[in-house]
Formats: sequence, C-alpha cells, structure tokens
Amino acid sequence: MEETRKSLLDDSFRSAMTLTNSGVPQVPDRYVLPPSQRPALGSSLGTSETTLPVIDLSLLHQPLLRSRVIHEISMACKEFGFFQVINHGIPLSVVKDALDAATQFFDLPVEEKMLLVSANVHEPVRYGTSLNHSTDRVHYWRDFIKHYSHPLSKWINMWPSNPPCYKDKVGKYAEATYVLHKQLIEAISESLGLEKNYLQEEIEEGSQVMAVNCYPACPEPEIALGMPPHSDFSSLTILLQSSQGLQIMDCNKNWVCVPYIEGALIVQLGDQVEVMSNGIYKSVIHRVTVNKDVKRLSFASLHSLPLHKKISPAPKLVNANNTPAYGEFSFNDFLDYISSNDFIQQRFIDTIKKNSS
Ligand code: OGA
Ligand code: NI
Repeated sequence: MEETRKSLLDDSFRSAMTLTNSGVPQVPDRYVLPPSQRPALGSSLGTSETTLPVIDLSLLHQPLLRSRVIHEISMACKEFGFFQVINHGIPLSVVKDALDAATQFFDLPVEEKMLLVSANVHEPVRYGTSLNHSTDRVHYWRDFIKHYSHPLSKWINMWPSNPPCYKDKVGKYAEATYVLHKQLIEAISESLGLEKNYLQEEIEEGSQVMAVNCYPACPEPEIALGMPPHSDFSSLTILLQSSQGLQIMDCNKNWVCVPYIEGALIVQLGDQVEVMSNGIYKSVIHRVTVNKDVKRLSFASLHSLPLHKKISPAPKLVNANNTPAYGEFSFNDFLDYISSNDFIQQRFIDTIKKNSS
C-alpha cells in the first residue's frame, strides 16, 4: 500500500490543483482533447439556448398542488432527464458549510490528500484526479474525493479528518440530500404511474456516494474538460454547483449550459431510473467545462439501490407491447464494468440494452 502511494506521488499522480497552483501557462499534453471532443467555448456552436426546467418543490407538500408538480416533474424527466429544484428544504447555511469544508479540503497540502488516494473504484473513500489517473488516456481537469455516505454512521469515520470541520459539515449536507432524494424518488415513481413507495425498501438500505469535485482554474479551457460526456449509474443524482460549468445534452444532441441559480439544486436522472422506467425516462448525458479564472466546486450525491441489488424494468411498465428493453444491473456491476472498460468509448447502459425487435 505504502509503495503504491509513493510511486503515485513520484510519477503518474499530478492533481489539477497542483498544476494550477504551479502556474502552468498551458495544459500538459495529456489534457488536450481530440478536436471533435473539445467544448467550443465562447462560440454558440453546439450549445443551445433552451430554457431548462426549475421546479418549486415546496408545492409537493400541498395536497391540492401535488399533482401539478408531479406533472411538471414528468415533463422534465421525459424531455431532459433533468431539472433544478428550489425551495427544496435544505437550508442555505448547510449548503454553504459543505462548500466551505470542500474548499478547505482541496486547499490542503498534496501529502495530506494523498493519504486517501486510490485507483480502486471499489474503495469506499478515495481521493483522485481526472476520472482514474492510472488508466485515463485523456485526462480531465478535476480533482475529487468520493465517499460512501449512507448510512452515515457506517462510513463517516473513514472520511477525511482534515479539515477538522469536514465530517460535521459534509455529514449534515449528506443527510439532508438523502432525505430530499427520498421525496424525489417518490415523486418520480408517482409520475410514472407506480406506487409512491415502489422503491421504498431498496432505498432504506440504498447507497449514497458523495462525489466532491474541484475544477481549478484552467489555462486552456477551450481544449480541455473537467469531466467527459457520461451518464450517472445512480437512480438519481442531486448536484450542487458553486458556479456555472455543467452542460447537459438535449434530445437534439445539443449541449445546453445549466444556469447557476443560488440555492437551487440540480436533479439528474441516472441509469437505474432509465432501466426501472423501461426507457420512458432516459438518464441525462452531461459533461463539465472548465474556465480560466474561477475554481468551481460541486457535490454530486449519487443515490442508488444497495450495492448488490439488481434493478430491472418495473413489471407495471412492461406488457406485450412494451417488452423489457433492458437487462438488470446493480451498482456493483457498474463498478466492475468501469474497472475493466473504457466507459467513454461505450456507456455502461448501452451494454445492458436488449435489441429492440
Ligand atoms: C459527476 C458529475 C458534475 C459536476 O460527478 O458525476 O457529473 O458539475 N459532476 O461536477
Ligand atoms: Ni455525472
């Protein structure tokens, strides 16, 4: 273990923060994307002006208005697999504290962060850079710490002990997002015509992975990305961003910038909901752009069924005309896939699609 860490520190491992802090005028070659994958910032080419949905979640708790909100959610899920939520019940102070703890974590000396470094995607707590520094052919301008977060008491002791406030501040945010995600899964199940508690049992023991991402200022944002196009394996992901940078792909395959709205949270459908809905809803393909001046932070809270629990199309949504369009899969199947395949070449969900007749 010690050996691995040392060799990572010596050669292959160089965090994006280290590069930014050293004042490099250009990105190293390994960050340069092939021309067809570059984000084309600053031009309107390939980015569309679509207005993205923003939903007031407080109305979900008003009996007379609930069905209207469920309808809005259903429209947003069908059109984008994405929406932002306001009045979601998580206090701004909890959000700000979490961002503050993350800022302090990424500002720590490299040696301190390296205590948690790992290239093993099955590790419940790991620090890293790009997607996987040891296997990525092209690197991405991102550092991250990911940790399992539910149930909190099972994992929190393994979280960073520096900065000292990290466990408390990020823990409070993790618990609050967990509560919010339960409400959202209920609403999404309802919007599909399923029982509100269709996934309730699975959710109680479900997993939550908190990916805390840091995208430092990048000298050449037009030829690099913070994260490549992908969809999340989760049922849904609740994303908090400190500034603009996320883009989603719309149904015409145009990239749309997600506006920054203070206090709002982003909801993205993941592959598990695509499978559960038998393709009525699709997971949203998204990517992260970087910028020259501002360091951007994000918290992606990926909620899913328990590690080994398989998800499959809901029986109620399958019939003679709508045969199951996907095989079943678990979070663990996804981890096995990404540890031995290049998920940029082929999305995991495409490997479990059944051939439509
Ligand atoms: C992710 C992700 C988006 C962002 O962590 O899966 O897509 O804005 N993050 O950091
Ligand atoms: Ni993602």
